[in-house]
Amino acid sequence: MLLARFLFLIALSSAAPIKRNPYNFLQPVNQGDTVFELGNNTYLANARYPKATFSCDLTSSVTAGSSRSTLPITVINTNASTVTRGVLTTTIQSYLDGDDVFTTDFLEAIYISSSSSGATLDSSAISYLRSLEISHVFMDASISVASGNTLSTTTVASPGIENLPSGPYLALINAGTVSLASVFLLYPDTYRDFLFGAYDSNDGNATHSSVGVFLPKVWDPYVPVPSRIYSWNDPRPMAGYRVAIKDLFDIKGLQTSGGSQAWAHITPTANETAPSIQRILDLGGVLVGKYKLAQFASGANPWEWQDEHYPFNPRGDGWLTCSASSSGGGCSVAAYDWLDFAIGSDTGSSMRRPAAVSGTFGQRPSQGLMSLERVLPLGGATDTAGVFSRDPYKWIAFSKAWYQPTLYQPPNITGLSPLEVPDTLAFPKNIIYPTDYLPLNNSAAEVVLQNFITNLTTIFNMTVKKINFTETVQSIQPPDNVSFINNLTYLSSVPLGVINAWTAWDIIGSVLTSTWSALFDGRFPPIDPARRPGWKSFNTTRYNPSTYANALVEKNAAVEWWESSFQPTTSDSCSENVFLYDIGTGGFPSYRELALNGYPNTSFLAVKPPGAEITGANICPIYGCADFTIPIGQVPYYSNVTFHEEMVPVTINMVVKRGCDFMLLNMIEKLADRGVLSAVKTGRTAF
Ligand SMILES: *[C@@H]1O[C@H](CO)[C@@H](O)[C@H](O)[C@H]1NC(C)=O
Ligand SMILES: *[C@@H]1O[C@H](CO)[C@@H](O)[C@H](O)[C@H]1NC(C)=O
Ligand SMILES: *[C@@H]1O[C@H](CO)[C@@H](O)[C@H](O)[C@H]1NC(C)=O
Ligand SMILES: *[C@@H]1O[C@H](CO)[C@@H](O)[C@H](O)[C@H]1NC(C)=O
Ligand SMILES: *[C@@H]1O[C@H](CO)[C@@H](O)[C@H](O)[C@H]1NC(C)=O
Ligand SMILES: *[C@@H]1O[C@H](CO)[C@@H](O)[C@H](O)[C@H]1NC(C)=O
Ligand SMILES: *[C@@H]1O[C@H](CO)[C@@H](O)[C@H](O)[C@H]1NC(C)=O
Ligand SMILES: *[C@@H]1O[C@H](CO)[C@@H](O)[C@H](O)[C@H]1NC(C)=O
Ligand SMILES: *[C@@H]1O[C@H](CO)[C@@H](O)[C@H](O)[C@H]1NC(C)=O
Ligand SMILES: *[C@@H]1O[C@H](CO)[C@@H](O)[C@H](O)[C@H]1NC(C)=O
Ligand SMILES: *[C@@H]1O[C@H](CO)[C@@H](O)[C@H](O)[C@H]1NC(C)=O
Ligand SMILES: *[C@@H]1O[C@H](CO)[C@@H](O)[C@H](O)[C@H]1NC(C)=O
Repeated sequence: MLLARFLFLIALSSAAPIKRNPYNFLQPVNQGDTVFELGNNTYLANARYPKATFSCDLTSSVTAGSSRSTLPITVINTNASTVTRGVLTTTIQSYLDGDDVFTTDFLEAIYISSSSSGATLDSSAISYLRSLEISHVFMDASISVASGNTLSTTTVASPGIENLPSGPYLALINAGTVSLASVFLLYPDTYRDFLFGAYDSNDGNATHSSVGVFLPKVWDPYVPVPSRIYSWNDPRPMAGYRVAIKDLFDIKGLQTSGGSQAWAHITPTANETAPSIQRILDLGGVLVGKYKLAQFASGANPWEWQDEHYPFNPRGDGWLTCSASSSGGGCSVAAYDWLDFAIGSDTGSSMRRPAAVSGTFGQRPSQGLMSLERVLPLGGATDTAGVFSRDPYKWIAFSKAWYQPTLYQPPNITGLSPLEVPDTLAFPKNIIYPTDYLPLNNSAAEVVLQNFITNLTTIFNMTVKKINFTETVQSIQPPDNVSFINNLTYLSSVPLGVINAWTAWDIIGSVLTSTWSALFDGRFPPIDPARRPGWKSFNTTRYNPSTYANALVEKNAAVEWWESSFQPTTSDSCSENVFLYDIGTGGFPSYRELALNGYPNTSFLAVKPPGAEITGANICPIYGCADFTIPIGQVPYYSNVTFHEEMVPVTINMVVKRGCDFMLLNMIEKLADRGVLSAVKTGRTAF
């Protein structure tokens, strides 16, 4: 033994010095978790509930002078029967290529196991490990050093270490016990799209912890991202997908604020996870934090936000709107390569418009497609949940895995007939081009749209039909009992108005105002102006359970007209047509700063076109249809912020009958296959 160590040290002294960034402890967080640096990367290690703990005799371990009790370590699980230098270098290279969390700084210690019984570590592997100046080599009991070689290793016997995923960890060594803590790279949220980062606390109770790290050098929240390598052998459909969540959805262990400090003050930390989010966890997804939203999912403009600081959009000049209310979701997906998806909700536009201004894929699904249990409501029967993505294929795969019948809302919530969602290739035959909503105001953007429509007609052999939607609805001859169904103003203000006002008041407003008043001597809670006047004098004559029930009946009448007359299912189409419109800016910039939107060739959001009775955004909240925002290109503008030419995304909304979501996803997949649609980039430009 002594001889072996002597030989090893000689070998080391002739090796080139290794430039590994040293472990640098920064601060403890969450009662025992650790924040540390390796070079320029900041990491969080879940030391409180480590991934694995084992005991071993450390006296025989290889040590290159280190007696530290905390070591960055790399776990390599291989299937090789002879572990060679090639096996190790190929594996390490695949970690470097496929993961943003792992760096060679984690090679201070190594743990090797092989699924091949009786595997050996050969002399080439041993000399490679020596050249790395690794301080501790741990090996599974199944693996041994090939005969004729010497290497001091620590053998680790199960139990304690079964099914330990490969990848980087922080080893915490304490008197013969070694714990391996999962590590998360802490990305600064430089666009300030998040409220806080979060990670799986691994406490056995399925709770998440928030990241309590503030580094004064930057003001950004930190978002913890686990190694992708942890999920490489996980066959579940969302394994390792990093997902940001709108702060309306409950996640066990985290505060739900709805974007309101006052609401957070009076409500406990969530003790259960919303079923919609639980499904993502069950399918292997990773929750990385809660993102900013317009308070209580309102449609507030950027300059109307008071409680939270408005998030930043990476597109164009960096000074464009993120829209409302799932603002931080679209903008963070447009901003960060390290983020895969963001979950949001859409009542009146809140997925679709943030997707449009950030140039990402995002949907308002069919009414009722996703459970909204344990999600703060706006309008119980108009709320929906969607997902933002940069990549059409990943978006389709996520959506199909997420929207499953067990999570559909029952008819007593939606007020509509039960959902049927065929996964079909029965594509529409016609494209509806509504002349009251199109063309796009920026003629350069309309060229992008016309090319897209040409591609659609060619690929799907569809016919473009130009109609005036407002006129079409106005010319319905309604039966007496539903005389309102030709009145879009009525449909958008009465049934929709009642549904959207009552639920939020019933579940949030009434509780917040009365609780705050009792706590603070009759005071009204500090909330943003979007809700203050409505909740100050809430009209319970207009909005109450009885008018709500009536609103559901009236909405259903409108949906029945749409599904029987306007977008019916036919023998060969799930939805006879696909309806196109733009929920965004028509190809012009819309700034986060009010005054900048007063000039020509700029745009406000939620503008009702002249001659139309409702905004295009309101169509599917009334008719229950599926409405997807699809990025199709970009056009230049001269920025009054950077005083430089910038690009703004061009998107189009595709609307199909309720229940035809998977058909529309299949259509989008075909468009991606043909190269008409593609993944968008992060950053200043989407393409
Ligand atoms: C940290 O980043 C700076 C600036 O990008 C760079 O010059 C430096 O080499 C980096 N240091 C390490 C240890 O990676
Ligand atoms: C062993 O692992 C490699 C790399 O992960 C894989 O390509 C190969 O199929 C595996 N072989 C067996 C027999 O499982
Ligand atoms: C898990 O939850 C149970 C029941 O609430 C509790 O008794 C236990 O202490 C919790 N465990 C941890 C690690 O928090
Ligand atoms: C969560 O808290 C509520 C009340 O605050 C309680 O009724 C419920 O049982 C709790 N759920 C769990 C799983 O502990
Ligand atoms: C809706 O119906 C389900 C059964 O399908 C029932 O469990 C639930 O309580 C009902 N909800 C409402 C709001 O009536
Ligand atoms: C889409 O349409 C444009 C203009 O008509 C055409 O140039 C382009 O080749 C089409 N793209 C595909 C993938 O068919
Ligand atoms: C395209 O659609 C028209 C009807 O709109 C039909 O007559 C024609 O056969 C179709 N062409 C192909 C290639 O399917
Ligand atoms: C449509 O509804 C609005 C709002 O309820 C009402 O003011 C208007 O008179 C109605 N229009 C017609 C033509 O009935
Ligand atoms: C409350 O709503 C009722 C019914 O819509 C309406 O008649 C009344 O004027 C409203 N009250 C106020 C103060 O707006
Ligand atoms: C920029 O500002 C000028 C006036 O200074 C105005 O004419 C122009 O329309 C503005 N353009 C944009 C895209 O904001
Ligand atoms: C498009 O232009 C028309 C005419 O100038 C204007 O009324 C409308 O508000 C514009 N639409 C948007 C979304 O800015
Ligand atoms: C569409 O029809 C409405 C109602 O008749 C009318 O006010 C509007 O001007 C029409 N719009 C267009 C673009 O034809």
